[in-house]
Amino acid sequence: MKASNLGFGCRLAKFSVTFLILVLLNLAVTTEAKARIRRYKWKVDYSYFSPDCVEKVIIAINGQYPGPRIRAQAGDTIVVELENGLPTEGVVIHWHGIHQFGTPWYDGTAFVSQCPINPGETFTYKFVVPRPGTYFYHGHFGMQRAAGFYGSLIVDLEHGEKEPFAYDGELSIILNDWWHRSIYDQETGLFAIPFRFVGEPQSLLIEGRGRYNCSLVPSGSVAGSGDCVSCNSSNPQCQPYILPVEPGKTYRLRIASVASLSSLNFILEGHNMTIVEADGYNVDPVVVENLDVYSGETYSVLFTANQNASRNYWAAINVRGRKPATPTGLALLNYLPNPSSLLPSTPSPMSPVWNDFDYSLNQNKLIIARKGYEVPPPPKPDRQLIFLTTQNKVNGRIKWAINNITYVITSTPVLAALKYGLKKAYDPIPPPDYPALPFSISGPPANPNATVGSGVYTFQFGSVVDVIIQNANTLTPNNSEVHPWHLHGHDFWVLGYGKGIFDPATDPQSYNLKNAPLKNTVAVLPYGWVAIRFRADNPGVWPFHCHIEAHFHMGMGLIFAEGWDRLPELPKSVLGCGLSKYL
Ligand code: C2O
Ligand code: CU
Repeated sequence: MKASNLGFGCRLAKFSVTFLILVLLNLAVTTEAKARIRRYKWKVDYSYFSPDCVEKVIIAINGQYPGPRIRAQAGDTIVVELENGLPTEGVVIHWHGIHQFGTPWYDGTAFVSQCPINPGETFTYKFVVPRPGTYFYHGHFGMQRAAGFYGSLIVDLEHGEKEPFAYDGELSIILNDWWHRSIYDQETGLFAIPFRFVGEPQSLLIEGRGRYNCSLVPSGSVAGSGDCVSCNSSNPQCQPYILPVEPGKTYRLRIASVASLSSLNFILEGHNMTIVEADGYNVDPVVVENLDVYSGETYSVLFTANQNASRNYWAAINVRGRKPATPTGLALLNYLPNPSSLLPSTPSPMSPVWNDFDYSLNQNKLIIARKGYEVPPPPKPDRQLIFLTTQNKVNGRIKWAINNITYVITSTPVLAALKYGLKKAYDPIPPPDYPALPFSISGPPANPNATVGSGVYTFQFGSVVDVIIQNANTLTPNNSEVHPWHLHGHDFWVLGYGKGIFDPATDPQSYNLKNAPLKNTVAVLPYGWVAIRFRADNPGVWPFHCHIEAHFHMGMGLIFAEGWDRLPELPKSVLGCGLSKYL
């Protein structure tokens, strides 16, 4: 009796010990998975590349264009040791869509989160990627992104987690538009009197590849370029990007746009696509024939290779939102085992007409949160801002302004300025929450003049902020442009879109408070408005700006800040320029 009792007791004890060991092991495995560090060593350099068969100097990472792909798992820490090999200019890298909670100094925006990394110097970015999703990174100093300085950043689910949709394989592309003129030439023109616009792009690229028609190059000179250039249509760098698929299988295609100017429309010839993810969040699945992608946005679509398998198909992008002057950008949907040299004999796929903005608006409205994958927005804001975005003139130069202020980059990082009270480093007067009344959006501004500023909108920590972006007419009669607005450090709920002038009394009644999608970039369409809501709960300093490279460069942005007093000392590596050199 006693013995058996003892035996039982022993077994129990043994069992609990084994159990404990198992639990501990399990814990160790989970923490190991969670604490995984992914290290990258990158060198930034100028490099000759021919993305559309025309050779030019680009900004490459480790000699690659697009830059190396980062692939991580939710919860991982990314460490990028970045060496600036450019002999005469600084660099930074922004991790677009990553919130940098607790590490706002690694947001990678020149003179906002950090000083640019000097030529020859090495800087280390270290941050956590907390959520799964499709993201990317890019240069955020001058117009470096437009020089090819970007790459993709994909975050997978944690071990054991599952997507609410199934697929057999995965593909990923970044879209952009491409100019033959250097970014220095482009920048100079934007600040010149008279103004010289960058013009429409020469090519559209898919995963860094496109095709300029070399027969348009009359012996060594290319339209839109003052330089002597060469165009070689057999250069392997400008052969179409291949998307290999097996007949009958379903694929997840990740799409991001880093376009400098163009709104793009993506088509998979002969295939419908089901949108399942936008800006890192699962969305209510919706089937489309083509997809509008604005600069700064990311999507995942599912498609099944269910067409005639004896041929290949085009994957294509066309310009929308501006009168197109650029040929379709093409990649190849390659049905295996067909050779990738088997090009479709069908014409380049067409997109909806460029100025069918109702089409764009309707498609934007299709994007809503997937049930159970997002928290709905708080019912009310603590503060409302209305941003009237206009084109203006400042000292004879054309600028973009928000509530009549055009943003100028400071010479001290704004984060350091706020944290250390460097009051002379920025405009201490906060910019206005509302535009001056009355205003009209149906013609060029009555008074085209704007003021210059580097003011900061500061929010009470944890408060809920609404921003209504109100589009208007440019300086040109009967012209209003698309602006994809991107917020650093946060996602926002897209509460609603409208045409004409936003009415603060009635329009909020139609806000979507039920399944508003969370995004980090949203496009405001010509003569329209968009309303967003976010919680100011990320200690730091965060740009909110138009993602069109030329527009941001012409002042179309501003700075939000909250909770900077909660931050510890900033790393020395982000300081050293402007007034921060005296810290
Ligand atoms: Cu992808 Cu501030 O931008
Ligand atoms: Cu813009």
